[in-house]
Amino acid sequence: MSCSFITAVTQDVLMKAEFALLAWFMRRCIRQPGRTVTTGRGRRFPPPKDLPARKLCPSKDMEGQCPQEANGSHPEQSEERLPTSDLAMDAGSCAGPVQTGETVIAEGKAKIIFPSANEVFYNPVQEFNRDLTCAVITEFIRLQLSAKGIQIAVPGEEKVEKVVVDLSEGEEAGSEPAPDEEGAARAVAAVGEVCKEGVRILEALAASGLRSIRFAKEVPGLRAVVANDFSSKAVELMARNVQFNGVGHLVTSSLADARMLMYQQKAEKHPFDIIDLDPYGSPATFLDAAVQAVSEGGLLCVTCTDMAVMAGNSGETCYSKYGAMSIKGKFCHEMALRIILHSLDLRANCYQRYIVPLLAVSADFYIRVFVRVFTGQATVKASASKQALVYNCVGCGTHHFQRLGKMTSHGSNFKYSAASGPPVGPSCEHCHQRHQLGGPMWAEPLHDPAFVQRVLSALGSNPGRFGTQDRIQGVLSMVTEELSDVPLYYTLDCLSSTIHCNTPSLLQFRSALLHAGYRVSLSHACKNAIKTDAPPSVLWDIMRCWERLHPVKRERLSDTSPAFHILSVEPTLQASFTVREDANPKSRKQGLKRFQENPEAYWGPKARAKAGGGISTSLQDKRKLHQNKRKERAEDGGHLKNIPCKRLKEGSGAGAEKCCPSPEPAPEPVKTDSPPQ
Ligand SMILES: C[S@@+](CC[C@H](N)C(=O)[O-])C[C@H]1O[C@@H](n2cnc3c(N)ncnc32)[C@H](O)[C@@H]1O
Ligand SMILES: [Zn+2]
Repeated sequence: MSCSFITAVTQDVLMKAEFALLAWFMRRCIRQPGRTVTTGRGRRFPPPKDLPARKLCPSKDMEGQCPQEANGSHPEQSEERLPTSDLAMDAGSCAGPVQTGETVIAEGKAKIIFPSANEVFYNPVQEFNRDLTCAVITEFIRLQLSAKGIQIAVPGEEKVEKVVVDLSEGEEAGSEPAPDEEGAARAVAAVGEVCKEGVRILEALAASGLRSIRFAKEVPGLRAVVANDFSSKAVELMARNVQFNGVGHLVTSSLADARMLMYQQKAEKHPFDIIDLDPYGSPATFLDAAVQAVSEGGLLCVTCTDMAVMAGNSGETCYSKYGAMSIKGKFCHEMALRIILHSLDLRANCYQRYIVPLLAVSADFYIRVFVRVFTGQATVKASASKQALVYNCVGCGTHHFQRLGKMTSHGSNFKYSAASGPPVGPSCEHCHQRHQLGGPMWAEPLHDPAFVQRVLSALGSNPGRFGTQDRIQGVLSMVTEELSDVPLYYTLDCLSSTIHCNTPSLLQFRSALLHAGYRVSLSHACKNAIKTDAPPSVLWDIMRCWERLHPVKRERLSDTSPAFHILSVEPTLQASFTVREDANPKSRKQGLKRFQENPEAYWGPKARAKAGGGISTSLQDKRKLHQNKRKERAEDGGHLKNIPCKRLKEGSGAGAEKCCPSPEPAPEPVKTDSPPQ
């Protein structure tokens, strides 16, 4: 199958595929009452590798199994009500027992009633996203409350070794605990209880309410959670779920357009400490309201699933949504992270605000970023110098950055000016091909390593807190190893395919860079990534040395090809490929779960629920639409132009892009099985 075809259809097909399979699975489950089925163990429905056994129980099984609190009011009913929204619903008003044909899904500590039709969005593959969010906001709240002298009690947590970390920005409040005279914290906030000094969360796009309910049942230190959706069916179900889980004292369901709700809350000076945006596709339309409605130093948690757009399939659409051109490159997944950060910062800048990223993760078919938002005119002036354009050579993938602004220090003051450039000539100095221009993108660190370390330490002291904990720990460990001052990366397969030679092992290549005196790291966003502070000329010298040891047939190279130009130059560096002990990163040595295999057929974004129920286009319809297209493309030779991103090849993420120009034939398509009938 042609790679360009994959790129064109993968997103759409996978958007719909999840639903078809889930719907089939739910029907099957309902057809066999009395049988408890776990999504993780079915023979024909192989398990997500890091997902726990999730019980999908037919309603018959669940009747009478509502949590104790479900039918009664919680002793500590919250007085929190949205002052702005006439539409806010009383969570208790429409609660009822699970009805015939409905299914209860358990995830984390929540149990969610799910109707048999896909009237309300539920995507089980986003469990990692929800687990990670619970882990991150727990640490955020721990820091916020410890500054007020309040400790949080996380069930299952052993005594956490305190890690000193300063989350403050400029002169903002420090994050150190404020112990009393005995050195002990003054108060303890427990899970499931209203903490009057705790945080107020908005889940702006809440669907079934699962995420908000998980917050209420798994994260301590909450004052209130507002679970909002503009679908009345979603809100109706959400309210029942809130009641069903006995969290009506913490979670208020709200029926409103998320933007209006955020603007109103901002206007009424009632900002949220945490805002979670988890939309279908792009969050772009919600960003302006979100950067305003979040409190000072508050946390925005943002998902983007429009990876085709963000990873370069449609640069012009990316520009219209995020104010940045995306380009196809092996680094597209990290570039997507940097584009959303750029967009968030730019929108915040309009209101004299700016972002400070805590964590930015690329996973499966989506990206998820956690950023704090602060106000400060002086810091906003530095924003232009935090963004960069990227020049990417279409022949060899060499890339260079061009910052948009320059910030120079003069004693204790800073001077801001336009940056000078460009950093490249009219064509690539290595292969003589042209450059594509991408960005602007965020060019500063993606993560706050100290904060990520806190999340890791907390997880380490609380084994089994989350179903996807192994993967969270693996990904975050990689995140802490990433070179924070090196945007984007190269990949080994792209470097070697450019010069048509075989590929050195990761350890050999990393050793060569270390021997030459440079730093190198992997990236959580791509399996074969090489992040290094070595200039591109050094990378190509290393590849030239490798080619001398593993010669390619020069006579076969066209004299205009990138390989010909690169190999025509003598290396100035004598690379050593002797493997060094420090070439193997800790997360790799420890065998942590860093990249997950494609856990099931049709893994990917789920179909958008249609207003009034159902999904917009079935997978089968989509399939018919695209029938035989793969064959046609394979025959027209178009597949010779690009090789796909490994993530697609290995099936660990939908929406992976073809990234690197290559004369190599494209690999065979990823095979997907039909859902059992
Ligand atoms: C991807 S789902 C949310 C999933 C949920 N966060 C979770 O973790 O299970 C997106 C939801 O956003 C809702 N939505 C879309 N546009 C909206 C808007 N402008 N205001 C409020 N809700 C909206 C949809 O009805 C849908 O239920
Ligand atoms: Zn080049």
